[in-house]
Amino acid sequence: MKNIVVFASGGGSNAEKIMEHFSQNSTANIVAVFCNNSKAGVIEKAADFGVPVVVFNREQLDNGFVLRHLVAFNPYLIVLAGFLLKFPSDIITAYPHKVINIHPALLPKYGGKGMYGLHVHRAVLENKEQESGITIHYVDENYDEGNIIFQKGIAIEECLNPEEVAAKVLTLEHEHYPKVIEELLNN
Ligand code: GAR
Repeated sequence: MKNIVVFASGGGSNAEKIMEHFSQNSTANIVAVFCNNSKAGVIEKAADFGVPVVVFNREQLDNGFVLRHLVAFNPYLIVLAGFLLKFPSDIITAYPHKVINIHPALLPKYGGKGMYGLHVHRAVLENKEQESGITIHYVDENYDEGNIIFQKGIAIEECLNPEEVAAKVLTLEHEHYPKVIEELLNN
């Protein structure tokens, strides 16, 4: 069984779908959730699945503390699911091609620093895009620039505000992220 560690910053609906998926599946074990916000909803969700949570701050992410704790969980794959801080290069170097992220838009458009959550969907609507979607990609040193693993688009013509786009895109995320992770583990 391969170990997965999930990094999340907020509500954790993707993390929840991933924990749910792998609780009924022997491909992988979600061994920990790492979270940079002690008030994040994902903490309670992890507890529901009996998954331990490591809470840390930005300084600990950058000074090697998080890497030291991560190593103890022996991760085969590190999954960013709504993780909003810049991922540090020491972890990327320690786990080459083992860190993946989901982005709520069709990269390379609408990526980069500051492009997260509703900021992304607002920009998509401002540009009058007819379609948005999801991108699952490897994480490298630059925001949202690693090699793309999977993309899926969805029509958003009828969406009136960023929240409606977010809801549509999130449905795609929930549907595909656990399956794409499973495929990666099987390859
Ligand atoms: C998701 O839409 C995810 O794609 C996005 O944050 C949301 C987290 O939702 N991530 C980014 O914007 C990263 N740049 P969740 O906490 O309910 O999974």
